[in-house]
Amino acid sequence: MSNPVSFQNILAPDRLPVSRLKVLTVFGTRPEAIKMAPVVQALAQAPDWFDAMVCVTAQHRQMLDQVLRLFNITPDVDLDLMQPNQDLFQITTAVLNGMKQVLSTHQPDVVLVHGDTTTTLATSLAAFYLRIPVGHVEAGLRTYNRFNPFPEEINRVVTDNVASLFFAPTPESRDNLLKMAADPARVYLTGNTVIDALFYTLAQPSTAPLPVALNPERRLVLVTVHRRENFGRPLESICRALRQIVQQHPDVEMVLPVHPNPNVFKTVHAELGGLERLHLIEPLEYEPFCRLMAQATLILTDSGGIQEEGPSLEKPVLVLRHETERPEAVTMGTVRLVGSNEQTILEEVSRLLTDANAYTTMAHAANPYGDGQAAGRIVNALKQFSVALQSA
Ligand code: UD1
Ligand code: UDP
Repeated sequence: MSNPVSFQNILAPDRLPVSRLKVLTVFGTRPEAIKMAPVVQALAQAPDWFDAMVCVTAQHRQMLDQVLRLFNITPDVDLDLMQPNQDLFQITTAVLNGMKQVLSTHQPDVVLVHGDTTTTLATSLAAFYLRIPVGHVEAGLRTYNRFNPFPEEINRVVTDNVASLFFAPTPESRDNLLKMAADPARVYLTGNTVIDALFYTLAQPSTAPLPVALNPERRLVLVTVHRRENFGRPLESICRALRQIVQQHPDVEMVLPVHPNPNVFKTVHAELGGLERLHLIEPLEYEPFCRLMAQATLILTDSGGIQEEGPSLEKPVLVLRHETERPEAVTMGTVRLVGSNEQTILEEVSRLLTDANAYTTMAHAANPYGDGQAAGRIVNALKQFSVALQSA
């Protein structure tokens, strides 16, 4: 490997050279698991280079386990931290203390974290306190609004300030990192690993039938909603819009896998339970969820990951938020921000359902989030890091 970058100033002074890089990949929630699974698989395919371990905090339990099963990942460490209706203080301190033990015991050469969750933030801090380098997968996304998304924007800013290796999914996220004066030699443009996971999953045989019988004559509108900014009145307003969409468009069938967060579950079931052609179901396994996305006419969501997946499947995505840290597909036209106002959501959905030109324009825009090869690029960067460590 040519021209190893110097990592001297990010390594603890007493660190010894390594032969196989000990990499601990840490994640806790559904989206982190989906997006880290390709990295875990790629690391496992290079055993001469890496002594790879996986730790799950289980910030999520059932939704995490669904993904572990799909990708055949058996964690080396499972902190099993989820509590019903946990708050940010509980989960942050639990992860911080849990990761202190894990990192002290296993002493990895590098810790990989993903994205912007509490698991990401607290694991990065724990690694920093123990002077272990952090590699941040999906680094550099920003809205530059600290309360939107909350607390994810600040989770990401802190993680990027702690990290030593940055895996930026897009040129925009790379530029955000360079703006905060990250060393360009440690910023790798990789694409988003969610596209690796999506392509991998769509290539697998179906694992299970869908839990709802859908009429193929009807158009499918797929919905997810779970963000803290939408709890309470915005979510009620979104629900009213969903009800109106189904009532005003008799050829539409809506599926909403309900996030188990009680702040979501209670409102959604109270507002939308028992409506014809509107199916409230439990969170879906990733494989059938990908099939549903591929079948959908359009997608309404406040999810981060689905904003990236929709464009890859050429599906218009209406985002139930006022801001996004993923502006690329908005610029390209596949994704549009519609917020949480009942009337705006209804109008935008009705337009796409009735105006074929508007629909086609949105559905055919390009995908800016990657080519499905991101995990390989991350692993190559880690090989470079390993070479640098040996010569440090
Ligand atoms: C978390 C992340 C958010 C991410 C989302 C993905 C933080 C602060 N938030 O939000 O960035 O977009 O995950 O879904 O890290 N629950 C279950 N079973 C599960 C998962 C959750 O019952 O498998 C319930 C529990 O009551 C839990 C609650 O949901 O306490 C909230 O989970 P938490 O991870 O704290 O927040 P999310 O809203 O899921
Ligand atoms: N997803 C899933 N089953 C569902 C809903 C979503 O597998 O019922 C997937 C979706 O395809 C995406 C990820 O979960 O890859 C997004 O997770 P979520 O919306 O919970 O979190 P975010 O991406 O907003 O952090």
